[in-house]
Amino acid sequence: MTTPQRVEHQQTDKGSVPVYTTGVVEQPWDSYSETDHEVWRTLFRRQQAQLGQQACREFLDATAAMGMGETGIPRFSELNAILQATTGWQIIGVEGLLPELVFFEHLANRRFPVTWWIRRPEQLDYLSEPDVFHDLYGHVPLLMNPVFADYMRAYGQGGLRAHGFGPEALAQLTRLYWYTVEFGLIDTADGLRIYGAGILSSKGECDYSLNSPAPNRIGFDLQRVMRTRYRIDTYQKTYFVIDSFQQLFEATFADFEPVYVQLKGLEAIPAGSVLDSDHVFHRGSGEGWLADGDI
Ligand code: PHE
Ligand code: CO
Repeated sequence: MTTPQRVEHQQTDKGSVPVYTTGVVEQPWDSYSETDHEVWRTLFRRQQAQLGQQACREFLDATAAMGMGETGIPRFSELNAILQATTGWQIIGVEGLLPELVFFEHLANRRFPVTWWIRRPEQLDYLSEPDVFHDLYGHVPLLMNPVFADYMRAYGQGGLRAHGFGPEALAQLTRLYWYTVEFGLIDTADGLRIYGAGILSSKGECDYSLNSPAPNRIGFDLQRVMRTRYRIDTYQKTYFVIDSFQQLFEATFADFEPVYVQLKGLEAIPAGSVLDSDHVFHRGSGEGWLADGDI
């Protein structure tokens, strides 16, 4: 373990993506200030208040089962005891985004990297990189679900393998993560619900993703998702809807090599497009979309 240290962005081979030190750090729980805990409580209460009707049942139940925190920033060690006993996952503390291979290696071994620091009070609504609220509140509860937990592990293994297939395969795999783990919706008997961490930890995007007429909501299809560009700087133009975590796991369980071969050289699909072959839950009005910036 190295000493936690909040460092500024370092530009790397991944261009504009900020990458920090790659080491695992012990959560410096005693060093959180009262302001830090208050930021957590504010964000936590705000999300809990609206997510009762918007998040999927698995997320809400797991958040409660973990005893995740009205009182302040949770201790990783306490969450780990519960996680370990439930699905064998562990949280590890990190400074921020990790290089791809390091990240995949952790997931493949059922370790989920969680940024230890929390945003400042003036950053409550928007932050351009993950902090402990996004990582813990958004990602960790679903690691209590056995099917989703297996999906995340398989994703890590798939990432390590995708490296051998080159940058196109990696970009396709990253899109899959983006449109499921970060921005996924799930169809339930009560209507569409959220399971993606990027939505769950964002005050504005919860309502937008479910209720705004602007974005597309399209049924999950593996190859369709892997071809679809996305935006990192605005709400999504398209959300993909799964029927169940089982569907997601089954669609991704098989060896991806034939998928990479099939997709090779095919043009990527712009973030806001709707195809004839799509199962459309809702066709977006496109209101407020910016014309550029998909990646
Ligand atoms: N089945 C994929 C492969 O062979 C691995 C994977 C699993 C990728 C789950 C994403 C999600 O590469
Ligand atoms: Co995330």
